[in-house]
Amino acid sequence: MNKQSDLSSIPKAELHAHIEGTATPDLVRRLARRNHLELPADMFTADGSYNWSGFHQFLQAYDRAAACIITKQDYYDVTRAYLRMCAEEGAIYVEFFTSPDHPAVHGIGFAEHLENISMAIDDACADSGLVARMIVSCVRHLGPEKAVAVAKTIAANPDRHVVGFGMGGDELQYSIEDFRPAYEIAAGAGLGCTVHAGEADGPNSVRDAISLLPVTRIGHGVRAIEDQALVQEIADRKIVLEICLNSNLRTGIYDQFSDHPFLQLRQAGCRVTLNSDDPPFFFSSIGKEYADAATHFGLDRAQLTEITRTAIDASFVEHETKIKLLARLNGEKAGATTQTG
Ligand code: HPA
Ligand code: ZN
Repeated sequence: MNKQSDLSSIPKAELHAHIEGTATPDLVRRLARRNHLELPADMFTADGSYNWSGFHQFLQAYDRAAACIITKQDYYDVTRAYLRMCAEEGAIYVEFFTSPDHPAVHGIGFAEHLENISMAIDDACADSGLVARMIVSCVRHLGPEKAVAVAKTIAANPDRHVVGFGMGGDELQYSIEDFRPAYEIAAGAGLGCTVHAGEADGPNSVRDAISLLPVTRIGHGVRAIEDQALVQEIADRKIVLEICLNSNLRTGIYDQFSDHPFLQLRQAGCRVTLNSDDPPFFFSSIGKEYADAATHFGLDRAQLTEITRTAIDASFVEHETKIKLLARLNGEKAGATTQTG
């Protein structure tokens, strides 16, 4: 067995991907045609990939792609395509963000939005045995009031596939404290909480997040490395970092793999996971993140499997399913091939 096929058979788990950001340029073009939308002339590069450079342009490119995902069928198709790719690459568990503020622009209600994604999750699970759940996400640059509205809506309308609450968007807008009310509503409704921090902004954003919000995970969090006391606190409190290697390189936080603090964070005792974030924007996938951790940071099969265990342990999935997934992982380790429903 060569090294690549060996890696592709490692059971993987993804905790950090934005469903709207998983749609490939081809799929977005198809959805735009179906929805009679004219795409901006500069949306794609000459070779057909998304056209952007730098974090803020990335957020705009992401919003432009998300604006093409409108109907029930659109959300179903995007979710199905993404989960199919994850399953093909060996994912056994996927937890992805969905932001109701995006379909709301087109007058699509929250329940309808979730229903279509849920259907795709059920079909993907029936096909591949993969388990998937959603984190409902607010968008930071839309402000704290919209965040509260999203939290209240999900608290009042629980969905069997929604297990968490999160926030992406422009980290430089507003302060973490402004979003405390939204997070308190979500946590009060029993949802697991995570927040993007320490990506576009520095270590103080991570410090604020873990001291002011009821979060057990941080999206990215990599810039915590600039403050050793904070790194120690993250390790001591067992906060899990949802690390997205290719995202951080493509948005320009780090120039190359050797500059990325993945290994230092891990060696300092922080619990780290590997994630694709927005796969076609960053030329990534869950399989590529694992492969890059092996190639650039020397992680072996056992260490990568341990990362999957960390991810499942830190996931917000209901306890019973978590136990089954962990048992499945243990079975894989022992060479068994059990399936989790
Ligand atoms: N960071 C912040 N907001 C986002 C991201 C991200 O990586 N992806 C989609 N929205
Ligand atoms: Zn993200």
